[in-house]
Amino acid sequence: MTSASVRWGIMGTARIAAKLATAIHAAEGAQLAAVASRDLARAEQWTNQHRAGAALGDYRALLSDDTIDAIYIPLPPSMHAEWTIRCAEHGKHVLCEKPLGVSSREAEEMAAACAANDVQLMDATMWVHHPRTAAMSASLAELGKLRRATSAFGLNLDSYLKFKPSHLAIAESNLQRAVAHELRLNRSLGGGALLDLGWYCVRATMFAFPGLPQRVFATRRLRGDVDFNLSALLWYSDDRIASFDCGYDLSQRKWFEVVGESGSLVCDDFVNPWEGKATRYWIHGEAGSVREQPCESAEQEVLMVEEFCRLVTAGERDERWPRAAVINQTICEAIDQSAQTESIVEI
Ligand SMILES: NC(=O)c1ccc[n+]([C@@H]2O[C@H](COP(=O)([O-])OP(=O)(O)OC[C@H]3O[C@@H](n4cnc5c(N)ncnc54)[C@H](OP(=O)(O)O)[C@@H]3O)[C@@H](O)[C@H]2O)c1
Repeated sequence: MTSASVRWGIMGTARIAAKLATAIHAAEGAQLAAVASRDLARAEQWTNQHRAGAALGDYRALLSDDTIDAIYIPLPPSMHAEWTIRCAEHGKHVLCEKPLGVSSREAEEMAAACAANDVQLMDATMWVHHPRTAAMSASLAELGKLRRATSAFGLNLDSYLKFKPSHLAIAESNLQRAVAHELRLNRSLGGGALLDLGWYCVRATMFAFPGLPQRVFATRRLRGDVDFNLSALLWYSDDRIASFDCGYDLSQRKWFEVVGESGSLVCDDFVNPWEGKATRYWIHGEAGSVREQPCESAEQEVLMVEEFCRLVTAGERDERWPRAAVINQTICEAIDQSAQTESIVEI
C-alpha cells in the first residue's frame, strides 16, 4: 500500500470500465489513478471522460507503476489469466471481471499466483456485494431443508449492443459491425452465454448450495462457435437439484428461486435490482402465504470496490473470494463439457 487510499489502475477501456470508474470515484478509500489501453489516444479520450488520472498506451505500464496498488481487469475473458498473473507478479491486487478465466486450470493458476504474491484476487460478480444478498442468505433458514435452486439470466444481445455501444460501435455506428467485434460472439476471446450470463446463475446456485455438484448435464444452441443459449441441470448430494438457463436470444430476465421443504425464496432481479423499482424479494410459505421483503437500495459496484479496498488497506487477504470464483469456474467448465458432448459429466 502506497497511501491511505487504494490507487487503482484500469486495464482496457471496456464498456463496463465506465461503470467501475464511477464506482471507484464514489467509493470510500479508492482513487482512480490511471487507465491503460492498447491505443494511447483512446486512453487519453477515456481519461478525459472518466477522470482517470494518467492515460497509458500499454497495459504493461500499469504493472511498472509503483504508485498503483490495485488493477481492475475488464479485458476479454481469454486475457484474464495472463494479465492477472502478471499483475500478481508485480505485487498488484486484482479485481478481475467475470468469468475469472476460461478454464478451471486458468482459474486455479490465477488464484495460486495471487496467493503466492500475497495479493487479493476477487472476481467482479457484483450482486453478491448487495446488502440484499446477505438478507436473502439469512432468510434461507426459514425455508427448511433446501431442495431446489433455479435461476435464469437472459438478454437480447442485439438490443444490448444497440443501447450500450462500445467505442467500436460508436465509431462504426453499425450493428452488424459491432456484432463482428463483439467478444461475446467470439469463442477465442472467451465469449458465449455460459461464461457471460450462466456465470451468474452458477453463483446463484452456489448461494443456495455452496460447493460442487456431483454431476451436471447441459444442452446448448450455437451461433457461430459460441453457445448462444444454454440450459443446465446440476445434481447435488442429499437429493438437491439445481437448474438454470441463460441466453442472448431472450427478453431480459434475471431471477432465482430457492425452494426448501417449508418455503421458497423468489428474487426476480438478483443480478441487479430493476431500475426504478424498490429492492425486494419474496418468501412464499408452505401454506400459500406470500411475504414481500423490502431491502435497502445500494450501489453494489461501489460496495464491491469498498470491500476490496478494505481488504487491501487492512492487509487481510480474503481467500473466500478466489475460492468462490474457482468453484464457479469449475462448475461452468463441467457444464460446457456436458453441452459439448451432450452427456452427463461427473465432477
Ligand atoms: N460485472 C459486470 O456487471 C459485467 C458487465 C459487463 C461485462 N462484464 C465483463 O467485463 C469484461 C469486458 O466486457 P465488455 O463488454 O465491457 O468488453 P468490451 O467493451 O468489448 O471491452 C473489452 C476491452 O478489452 C480490451 N481488449 C484488449 N484486447 C482485445 C481484443 N482482442 N478484443 C477486444 N477487446 C480487447 C479493449 O480495450 P483497449 O482497446 O482500450 O485496450 C476493450 O475495450 C468481460 O469479461 C465481461 O464478461 C462484466
